[in-house]
Amino acid sequence: MKKFIENLPKVELHLHIEGSLEPELMFELAQRNNIAIPFDSVDAIRAAYQFENLQSFLDIYYQGANVLINEQDFYDLTWAYLLRCKQDNVIHTEIFFDPQTHTDRGIAFDTVINGIHRALTDAQKELNISSQLIMSFLRHLDEDSAIATLEMAKPHLDKIAAVGLDSSEVGNPPEKFARVFKQAIELSLLPVAHAGEEGPADYIHQALNHLQVKRIDHGVRCVDDAQLVQQLIETKMPLTVCPLSNIKLKVFEQMTDHNIVELLRQGLQVTINSDDPAYFGGYMTDNFIAVADAHPATKQELAQFTINAIEASFINEQQKLNYINQVNNYLVNA
Ligand code: ADE
Ligand code: ZN
Repeated sequence: MKKFIENLPKVELHLHIEGSLEPELMFELAQRNNIAIPFDSVDAIRAAYQFENLQSFLDIYYQGANVLINEQDFYDLTWAYLLRCKQDNVIHTEIFFDPQTHTDRGIAFDTVINGIHRALTDAQKELNISSQLIMSFLRHLDEDSAIATLEMAKPHLDKIAAVGLDSSEVGNPPEKFARVFKQAIELSLLPVAHAGEEGPADYIHQALNHLQVKRIDHGVRCVDDAQLVQQLIETKMPLTVCPLSNIKLKVFEQMTDHNIVELLRQGLQVTINSDDPAYFGGYMTDNFIAVADAHPATKQELAQFTINAIEASFINEQQKLNYINQVNNYLVNA
């Protein structure tokens, strides 16, 4: 099954580009930009990646992002992730970036987006990987800050497909961001939001009702509300689930406790994603293998995760059909 998973075409819909900053690159950028970090080696950085919950991770994740200063840094970060995509047979990826993490420390919005976008353009040409960009608002900050960020994005709307909502979930419910999401939708940006990772099932309801989201990021806490599960099935609402992330952040104690395969078998539109792979110990292939090891699944079921992701992606219908054909061809010959 390992070979089958390695070669399976994959689509990633939940990846924070700042969360793909590997310790080696963090160390290199710290030296290149003369930024002090509280670690004296790559090994010391890796050793610090022990998390109790989402917040204990976020504290280290925002600190790590401090080494990103120049447009080339954002390019190098994104390019390194895209090379890993190639290795894992990821054919399409939809990437979150958190502008406020950078603009709040004086980095220009243009610097961030231009570096990321240039790498994505090069990846289409040189690696044959297609992509979309999702601008995510930090929910621990206030809505006015999100609105100011949307304002900064206006000259770049040709580069951005969607808006998201991430960071500290509990205590920062989706309804807090109803106005900025309404404005984003008016600008033809597609809405998605993290909900039901650590927060309650009610936050999933709020994301659907107040933010009109097209996908729920994580959403694994939906199982606490049977009626909600039924609604998610009937509306084919995609959930971008991140298995290794959920174990590292103790959303589930161990992979055998994870509900992703059960949700798939109940008919939910679940997908497999890596979230912050540099921090959680694995990219796309690693996530598929971890799920399959803990929950024996058929090749058809594993391929269904990719089919679900293609259907839930923000590409056009023709591109979706092409990718679905690619997966089906792989499956019949596997
Ligand atoms: N930002 C980066 N990764 C995140 C996650 N898993 N949940 C919420 N915010 C995040
Ligand atoms: Zn996430």
